[in-house]
Amino acid sequence: MAYDFDAPIDRRGTGCEKWDNMAPVFGRDDLLAFWVADMDFKAAPEIIEALREKVESGVYGYPLMTDSARESVVDWLATRHCFSVDASDVGFSPGIITSLSVALQAFTAPGDGVVIQTPVYPQFFSLIRRNDRAVVENPLMETADGYEMDYDNLRRVLTPDVKAMLLCSPHNPVGRVWRADELWRLAEICVERGVVVLSDEIHHDITFDGARHVPFQLAAPESAPWSIIFMAPSKTFNLAGLCGSAWLSKDKKIAARMQKALVSVHCSEINMMALAALEAAYSKGAPWLDSLTAYLSSNRDLVVKFLRERLPDVKMKHQEGTFISWLDFRGYGLSGKELQDVLVQKARVALNPGIAFGGDYDAFARLNIGCPRGTLEEGLDRIGSAFNF
Ligand SMILES: Cc1ncc(COP(=O)(O)O)c(C=O)c1O
Repeated sequence: MAYDFDAPIDRRGTGCEKWDNMAPVFGRDDLLAFWVADMDFKAAPEIIEALREKVESGVYGYPLMTDSARESVVDWLATRHCFSVDASDVGFSPGIITSLSVALQAFTAPGDGVVIQTPVYPQFFSLIRRNDRAVVENPLMETADGYEMDYDNLRRVLTPDVKAMLLCSPHNPVGRVWRADELWRLAEICVERGVVVLSDEIHHDITFDGARHVPFQLAAPESAPWSIIFMAPSKTFNLAGLCGSAWLSKDKKIAARMQKALVSVHCSEINMMALAALEAAYSKGAPWLDSLTAYLSSNRDLVVKFLRERLPDVKMKHQEGTFISWLDFRGYGLSGKELQDVLVQKARVALNPGIAFGGDYDAFARLNIGCPRGTLEEGLDRIGSAFNF
């Protein structure tokens, strides 16, 4: 079946954050939205159908976290990620940020350090701070081809008061899909130092050009007592508003501790709509996802071509996965505020300011390419015209 990702969808006035919340954040609302990380696409027909069935049943009582939903996660991991887990290894939660917060409370104490690898998803900073833990940065190293983890610096920053790491795999915003050997090296250090790795794999399904996501405990099985994997259909299938995610660990002890912590705040289940969508996505959504990935890969190629031809001073490292592009405007010598002024006031586009991803990234901006090609073309054209001053 062919899916129409080109169809424009007018989301203004639908109460969505991406298109209806620009004025408070960017000071105006007449922008093309390329910021919040959801996509301007309709969900797969199989998911819409599963939701329709639930809506039309008219009965919205408490759902059961069924074996079939759990099995759909297990099958997805086996078929898409070559990772074999038991249904009993899998748990649920309303969202990855909820799970990560609860995990920090369960596995660290107030004041403990938590490592993140910057530039990184802004919520990583806030969720650590909201939980009265300390942010410890291990910046990614920039190389000619892309970004790499800095293992030497990691060893330096892992002082005894650092108890956990939030790993972003694949990495938002730089688009790296970490290789098994990279994850294995990381695991070796963290296990040696007794640091729990909370591996946020929410972006695991969108990879390009044969890049293969490797689940953390598949890359490093011996890390299981020291790690938990978090996943969700929300990025993959554009279901973020439904609030449903899963998590797993092949180590029974760490999984039991995580489950107990989630149960204690009544967050170990997901609502009936999210559950129906999750199961439909994982059991029937693969063809839609394959088409989506091909479409996003072409959007990524379009950005690369546009930069090469129209804005060669804006750089972008090879984006191996995710639907977000990390644009480097350092060549213009603008401050973060000046850069945002050009993007917002001249180009009339909303991109996430780089500073949100770490203090050193003022001159960067994050572009969400999860939109119809026509929207992306118009946005890029506006940026091109604004910068060719
Ligand atoms: C790396 C990463 N983790 C987590 C989330 C949010 O997850 P959730 O909506 O399930 O809390 C996002 C959303 O952009 C993300 O990019």
